[in-house]
Amino acid sequence: MPGRIPQSFIEDLLARTDIVDVIDGLVPLRKAGKNWQALCPFHDEKSPSFTVSQDKQFYHCFGCGVNGTAISFLMEYSNMGFVEAVESLAARAGLDVPREGGGPVRSEAGLGEIHELLELVIEYYRRQLKEHPQAARAVEYLRSRGLTGDLAARFEIGYAPPGWDNLITALGRSDAALQRLLKAGMLIQREGGGYYDRFRDRIMYPIRDHRGRAVGFGGRVMDESTPKYLNSPETPVFHKGRELYGLHQLRGANPARLIVVEGYMDALALAQFGITGAVATLGTAATREHLERMFRITPRIIFCFDGDDAGTRAGWRALETALPLLRDGRQVYFLFLPEDEDPDTHVRRHGPGTFEEEGRLVPLSDHLINTLKEGVDLNTREGRARFVDRAAPHLGALPTGALRQLLIQDIARLAGTGPEQIDPLLRRPKSRATPRRQAQRRGTQTGRPNPVLLGSIIRMLLFRPALAQLVPETGSFRTGAPGEVFLAELLDFVHSRPNISCAGIVENWRDSPFESRLRELSSIRDDAELEGLDLEREFADAMAALHEQKSRLERRSQLQGKGLKDLSEDERQQLRNRKPRGGSIRK
Ligand code: GTP
Ligand code: MN
Repeated sequence: MPGRIPQSFIEDLLARTDIVDVIDGLVPLRKAGKNWQALCPFHDEKSPSFTVSQDKQFYHCFGCGVNGTAISFLMEYSNMGFVEAVESLAARAGLDVPREGGGPVRSEAGLGEIHELLELVIEYYRRQLKEHPQAARAVEYLRSRGLTGDLAARFEIGYAPPGWDNLITALGRSDAALQRLLKAGMLIQREGGGYYDRFRDRIMYPIRDHRGRAVGFGGRVMDESTPKYLNSPETPVFHKGRELYGLHQLRGANPARLIVVEGYMDALALAQFGITGAVATLGTAATREHLERMFRITPRIIFCFDGDDAGTRAGWRALETALPLLRDGRQVYFLFLPEDEDPDTHVRRHGPGTFEEEGRLVPLSDHLINTLKEGVDLNTREGRARFVDRAAPHLGALPTGALRQLLIQDIARLAGTGPEQIDPLLRRPKSRATPRRQAQRRGTQTGRPNPVLLGSIIRMLLFRPALAQLVPETGSFRTGAPGEVFLAELLDFVHSRPNISCAGIVENWRDSPFESRLRELSSIRDDAELEGLDLEREFADAMAALHEQKSRLERRSQLQGKGLKDLSEDERQQLRNRKPRGGSIRK
């Protein structure tokens, strides 16, 4: 095994790299004020919201939320592995990548290698469906489900034969090959050592991503045994919440709408009956990423769920996920099937002609109102109030636009009031206060330091790491809550590296539990606001507030240790967290 790349080298490398050069070479950037901008390479957009900050050495897209360092960019945009990205930046900077322990330098399996390996696995399982002595059972099963040979070929359906080491024998003869199969999710490691095939005696449905790269499999048993389906585990190339089964097969078809179904078999059956555009989530609820991916193909999405309770619940979850994404022009519909049918059985029973009958498509806004109305009596004032109450968060989740306006009008009408009465209930207070004041306003009652306050302190540090010098002493935080301990570590880290950038900080915590929060707090969005502040004062004030909070919490927990009888009146007041004396609520 190659040694790890020393963290100090990563820091050094980032210090010699300019993220603007790195990105500009791949996605041409335009100067916009202090920052650089481009149309986001990770989602479709008409005006640029992809922003790169040279100061922070960090990018962020205000549209789709991607963010990260030069290393992250190469990983995301050029599909490199971490090591590959570091090597590529090192080559630009004319540096050799050192390894801890000075062990031999060998590249870890890159993502490209995993995709290639999975191609071989697809081929292997397909060959088994044709050649394996026990394949007749699989062929017979597929036939009994009504799948044609043509369709099986188009979706590259295969067969994992019974046995613990078929794949290992076929594709895992060397140690390196075994490691790659493991990384690709195809093997399971035995506790006592050694490996065995994850998929055994199953029909295999290969899963490809939107660019057609092989990423994983779903495998179905051919009888009533469980689990009915087995999916690839999360791997560097496979993320269940991102992939859609059947999407790749649509390439070039340009369907006017996509139909989201729940099962592999549903997607296959619709395709077989010529209903183009069906995709299946992989046993999970539809995610925001799924929806964004689909909206890049068409503005019209139809969710098709079974008519049972589970289908109804899945429909409501899908609705809630879709709401914030419904910019003007995007349309979502629901197609609920009769109680005992799923898309597969429906299309086989009734044929393709009636599947999408206009009358059965329920627009999302209708489904929303119908569901909100359920169980409330609009003939009473109380019922109407409850209705408005229920509706408010959903209306608030919608982006501003025609749909939101129209829905507000309809809901107001049903509630017997006017839209202007409803609107104020939706407006989230968009505060112009400074981060410190925002944070302080939300005082803590929880016995832990206020996460908003901590967040705003860390945000300021990421924006201007030199602020750390205002807090030379961090010992008092070392014994605090996890967030405080983290702050202490962050401050100490920056103390010893006066020139570190935001990117250098984020990279230091890569793959740690703090990474995602740090990336979030690195957002470039509010930088202009920070720019305009007297940051040293804001920072000092926020630190003072944190200290204050800390000692108040400590005092309170000490007081709680005493019996109420033993407390002085002043102490009781403190415990009630009210101003001493003269309060009106005292008994
Ligand atoms: P058939 O029973 O063959 O018609 O399959 P289906 O594709 O119609 O599946 P079903 O409607 O029962 O379930 C919908 C989806 O949920 C499946 O396609 C799988 O993605 C997932 N799923 C169902 N059962 C399991 C299971 O036992 N394990 C896992 N991981 N996923 C499952
Ligand atoms: Mn089914």
